[in-house]
Amino acid sequence: MPNLQIFPSLLSADFGKLQSEIDRFEPYVEGFHFDVMDGHFVPNLTMGAPVLKSLHTKTLFDVHLMVEHPEEYVEDFQKAGAKMISFHVEAAKENSSNALIQQIQNLGMKAGIVLKPKTPCSEVESFLDAIDFVMIMSVEPGYSGQKFMPEVLPKIREIREKYPEMDIEVDGGINDETVREVVEAGANMIVSASYLFGAKNGEEAVRSLRL
Ligand code: DX5
Ligand code: ZN
Repeated sequence: MPNLQIFPSLLSADFGKLQSEIDRFEPYVEGFHFDVMDGHFVPNLTMGAPVLKSLHTKTLFDVHLMVEHPEEYVEDFQKAGAKMISFHVEAAKENSSNALIQQIQNLGMKAGIVLKPKTPCSEVESFLDAIDFVMIMSVEPGYSGQKFMPEVLPKIREIREKYPEMDIEVDGGINDETVREVVEAGANMIVSASYLFGAKNGEEAVRSLRL
C-alpha cells in the first residue's frame, strides 16, 4: 500500500525516554501520534502541551485530544509543535465543532474529527466537507493494548464510499493482521501503539504494517 501513513502512538513508548523512542522510529514513519487524556472525557491521564514542547521530530506530531473543552487546548498544542489536531465529536459542545475546526485550521494545522466506536457516521457527516481528516476509533479511548473492534469497519467503508479523497485515520488495536482489514475498508492513516513499541525491531514492525 504505497500511500499508507504510519503514526506510532507514543502512549506505549517508554515515557522515561520519549525522545529516543521517537528517534528510533523517525526514519520509517510519517509522524507521531500524541494521546492527550484529561481523566474526565476518558478515565485516564496522560501528557499535555509542555511534554510535547520538549520533544522534536523531522516528521510531524498528530495530537489526539481526548479531553473535555478541547477548544481550550488547541493554541497551546500549536505552540508546542502540533501539525495535526483531532478532537472528539462527543466532546465538542453542541454546534461548536465548526468553530473548533476553524480554530485549528486558522492556526495552520490540519483539523480532524474523531468518532468513538459506537458513534455513528451521521454525527460527523455535516463536518466532513470542512475537515482535513476523520479518525475512527477501533477501541474505546483511554488505553493502549486493547483488542481491535471489527464492528467499526462498516463506518470506514461508508466514509470512503462517499469521500474517495478523504484522509481516514484508524486508531486502536492495529497490528500486522488487523491493518489489512482497515486498509481494505478504506483507511490510509494508521495509528499503532502497543504493536510498534512492543516490537524488538521497529523498522520491521513498521514495514509489516505496510502490507
Ligand atoms: C487510545 C489511544 C490510542 C492508543 C492505541 O485511547 O487513542 O492512540 O494509543 O493503542 P494500541 O495501538 O495499543 O491499541
Ligand atoms: Zn489516539
